[in-house]
Amino acid sequence: MHIHRLEKIWIVFGISMLIVFLSVIGVSAFAMGMNPPTGHAHTIDPAKVDLTPPFDQPGLKKVGENEYEAVMTAFAFGYKPDKMEIPAGATVHFMITSKDVVHGFEIPGTNVNMMVLPGEVNHLTYKFDKPGSYLVLCNEYCGGAHEWMKTTIVVN
Ligand code: CUA
Repeated sequence: MHIHRLEKIWIVFGISMLIVFLSVIGVSAFAMGMNPPTGHAHTIDPAKVDLTPPFDQPGLKKVGENEYEAVMTAFAFGYKPDKMEIPAGATVHFMITSKDVVHGFEIPGTNVNMMVLPGEVNHLTYKFDKPGSYLVLCNEYCGGAHEWMKTTIVVN
């Protein structure tokens, strides 16, 4: 059967792309396998956040000497807990997931900035050295009241 040269090129190109694609998937899967999640589950059913520990009880938990774990949920349009108070110098391990759409978690003036995705648990640790009121903002557009989606962390 006669195959036009241009068609041959496209077939070869197509197969090459397929090989590239498959190896990318393979490498990613391999890389993920090399770094198993440590301790916490990193995926969650976004429809059952309220029933899934520890997100069934969002809040601050003391885990060490001036060290806290902040279990939080993000939703349209707010966060839970909606206000937290910690002593100055506290190290906070944030653990957050979304109950609906993609939200953000940013504390202006710090390097705290993460995406909050439904179905995923995101982690970030920050040490609050300076006393004050820290605003937590959503920086991913999530709907009508996106601009008012915020919470506060009071450090004293
Ligand atoms: Cu949540 Cu914007």
